[in-house]
Amino acid sequence: MTNVDWDAEAASFDEEPDHGLRDPVVRRAWEGRLRDWLPGRAGDVLDLGCGTGSLSLLASEQGHRVTGVDLSPAMVTRAREKLAGRDAVFLVGDAAAPPVGEQRFDAVLVRHVLWALPDPARALGHWRGLLRPGGRLVLVEGVWGSIEPVGIPVERLTGLLAPLAGQVRVQRLSDDPLLWGGPVTDERYAVVAVTGDSGQEGREAVAAGQ
Ligand SMILES: C[S@@+](CC[C@H](N)C(=O)[O-])C[C@H]1O[C@@H](n2cnc3c(N)ncnc32)[C@H](O)[C@@H]1O
Repeated sequence: MTNVDWDAEAASFDEEPDHGLRDPVVRRAWEGRLRDWLPGRAGDVLDLGCGTGSLSLLASEQGHRVTGVDLSPAMVTRAREKLAGRDAVFLVGDAAAPPVGEQRFDAVLVRHVLWALPDPARALGHWRGLLRPGGRLVLVEGVWGSIEPVGIPVERLTGLLAPLAGQVRVQRLSDDPLLWGGPVTDERYAVVAVTGDSGQEGREAVAAGQ
């Protein structure tokens, strides 16, 4: 994925069931998961590597204000079209260091992006610093392929999160075909990492230069 030309992919990206969420059954499956993972109250959600904005749209429909960031201008254009008229902004930028200035968020949402970043530990520390006290990281990742698997195993991700979050919850997603438009055999999961109310872990992460 690190060599993928995402601008070239943008036009057909939504054709995959879990990308475009065009099938109402798949869409409902993601809707339900997001409702569970995101804060119960309307808040500010930062969707990093937002692609065409499919998850951003679900978050917006659930009442959240969304900021999306993607390195690909073509993806950002599609996300802007998809959420036109909503309380949402989309920026071209690097997910590892999103161009959001001093703005802070109730949730940072990242699906299928972290594993491909050059330094996932550093990115997680930075994202932790973008959260308000009590905020959360919602990370949807996996390991794909059998011959030369790519991705980030859940144990590695939870290990990286341990110093950053008070509470880390893992949900296995491989056994829910509704999410993917059919059965899958590889490792797919979500991790919700909720920080303490004090924001202490975030300050420590920033102080440690993560
Ligand atoms: C597999 S797609 C996932 C899109 C979206 N998160 C979703 O789940 O539908 C990966 C996305 O990450 C973006 N991306 C890759 N590297 C990035 C980076 N360093 N910063 C921001 N976006 C990046 C790509 O442009 C692409 O839109």
